[in-house]
Amino acid sequence: MATGLIRRAISSSRMAAASQPARLITARLHASEVEAQKVEPKATSSSDMKKFQIYRWNPDNASKPQLLEYEINLKECGPMILDALIKIKNEIDPSLTFRRSCREGICGSCAMNIDGCNGLACLTKIPSGAESTITPLPHMFVIKDLVVDMTNFYNQYKSIEPWLKRKNPSPTPGKEIPQSKKDRAKLDGMYECILCACCSTSCPSYWWNPESYLGPAALLHANRWISDSRDEYTKERLDAINDEFKLYRCHTILNCARACPKGLNPGKQITHIKQLQLMGGA
Ligand code: SF4
Ligand code: SF4
Ligand code: FES
Repeated sequence: MATGLIRRAISSSRMAAASQPARLITARLHASEVEAQKVEPKATSSSDMKKFQIYRWNPDNASKPQLLEYEINLKECGPMILDALIKIKNEIDPSLTFRRSCREGICGSCAMNIDGCNGLACLTKIPSGAESTITPLPHMFVIKDLVVDMTNFYNQYKSIEPWLKRKNPSPTPGKEIPQSKKDRAKLDGMYECILCACCSTSCPSYWWNPESYLGPAALLHANRWISDSRDEYTKERLDAINDEFKLYRCHTILNCARACPKGLNPGKQITHIKQLQLMGGA
């Protein structure tokens, strides 16, 4: 891991922020909006204003991570956290860095911690209340601001070999391999995963053993291929993860199920793998 990367530490960043002179950045208006206001001034009540404390760290600066405060008018903003971040970036501070793409809960790139809970910024409504705190996914190396290094997470996903593996030729060469509706239904609750990492980064076991424990997302995908009637490497897949650290660091705390923005339950899938291991890989 590059030495320039640091694990996020909220407490230290709060201290750093507290030691900074109070910094309140108010929204700048676009020139066209200024003109519009000259014609018809908008009444802004204090309840329309909301402050966001946002984790900031730039590897090119020597300064420590800090929480910076931004205030925006919710009447001039979309309803989601991602709308607020885009507004802040467009109108107040273009240096604010975060990932996003689809803005509809499909790509998984806008995962972050919002008021203490992992979630997708594009699917999380701006909470009521005067202030919210937005930080990167917990216990991940930070690349910049809200962007975390997903290399280890993706390598763990890759390690479970997330593709169909066959020993015998396809019964229908050149075509899809048929699957009954009942067998297809066994993949429900797993194929929907968007690899956002909200689950793994909310798992205490993953926090303490991020390199050796595969974590709930990778294990959910392991079970997705173990459960696929078309795959012929079930035993080998089970043997590959039958490991004290890779699999058995899960203690069924179920933080993962609470965190998943797609309503999936990785803990349940991990339990299924453990049951198969007890049955000798049947
Ligand atoms: S159930 Fe397992 S994977 Fe899910 S949070 Fe708990 S320890 Fe982590
Ligand atoms: S199981 Fe849910 S929280 Fe975990 S990576 Fe998949 S979609 Fe994200
Ligand atoms: S932007 Fe794609 S999931 Fe949020």
